[in-house]
Amino acid sequence: MKNLQTEYAGLKLKNPIVISSSSLTNTAEKNFKLEQEGASAVVLKSIFEEQILLQAQKEAAAMDSSVYGAEGGDYLFEYVKNHTLNEYLKLIADTKKVCTIPVIASINCYSSGSWTEFAKQIENAGADAIELNIMMLPTSKDVAFKEYEMRFIQIVDDLCKAVKIPVTVKLANNVGSLVYLVNALAGHGAKGVVLFNKLYPFDVDIEKMSYTAGEITGHNSDLSNGLRWAGIISGSVKDIDCAVSGGVHTAEDVVKAILCGSSAVEICSVLYKEKAETVIPQMLEGLSKWMEAKGYNTIDEFKGKLSATDESISFFERTQFLKYYHG
Ligand SMILES: Cc1cc2nc3c(=O)[nH]c(=O)nc-3n(C[C@H](O)[C@H](O)[C@H](O)COP(=O)(O)O)c2cc1C
Repeated sequence: MKNLQTEYAGLKLKNPIVISSSSLTNTAEKNFKLEQEGASAVVLKSIFEEQILLQAQKEAAAMDSSVYGAEGGDYLFEYVKNHTLNEYLKLIADTKKVCTIPVIASINCYSSGSWTEFAKQIENAGADAIELNIMMLPTSKDVAFKEYEMRFIQIVDDLCKAVKIPVTVKLANNVGSLVYLVNALAGHGAKGVVLFNKLYPFDVDIEKMSYTAGEITGHNSDLSNGLRWAGIISGSVKDIDCAVSGGVHTAEDVVKAILCGSSAVEICSVLYKEKAETVIPQMLEGLSKWMEAKGYNTIDEFKGKLSATDESISFFERTQFLKYYHG
């Protein structure tokens, strides 16, 4: 096996295969097994800003202040909040006890607020990094261009001031000026960017004429978008690492992501479909064999070979099916 070590967001990884945040990583036992199967890091299931705040508010509202008094409501609010948070801290600590690979905590958030304080506790519990999954759908007529992006920057700025461990940002691909934003996030302290998050799939049931969820897991065809943007971002933003997430299913996908400048990949759907004990070793072996065939001894020797340059940017920018219109 070739030397597959890579560095991502300041973390030294034994190989580029990181397990994405999901229920695959919601117990220490599962994380231990993933390490045994070859994973180089785990991103723990997310704790949601909404989950923390809504759960707490709901419970507090349900409290009858005429019986318990206002202070009783406050107490319950704090209890529910801390209970959820404590479970998450326990997941980090338990995983750190059994794993030697880096453990990345994940926070799904949309605003800068009380969870920033919680992030310090995540750091103290032993997390090696924090991945922020910042999710905002720009659905308001009253929020102007750039305001959403400014919120991302504010959240990252606040968090990077609060903790010393590396902060990475998992983005959805609906962000406006992606390169501008990633450059700004790097300037405000983010060490890595994950391209991309998968939105909960919206669908419509035409029989019941109601809203429903689409297919939960993704496909290999999702990879293209991450490759395109990893190539563009790694070619122009220097102080931040990329990790492709979305559609990475095979060793070839890992090679493509690294060629496009990605330092690591995050895998999820493929592990819902196939066994990790098969998939991860196959990816590592395939990556190693490809390196052997091409004469590379380390990941760094070919990382970013196909990142966007002045000469190649037109391939990344080609978005219209021009020749097919004329075909
Ligand atoms: C069942 C399921 C649960 C997920 N839960 C989370 C989560 O809690 N936090 C998060 O940041 N991403 C979550 N994701 C998104 C994945 O981490 C990943 O970014 C996405 O599925 C794209 O990668 P893939 O094509 O390898 O699945 C989830 C995805 C799936 C399929």
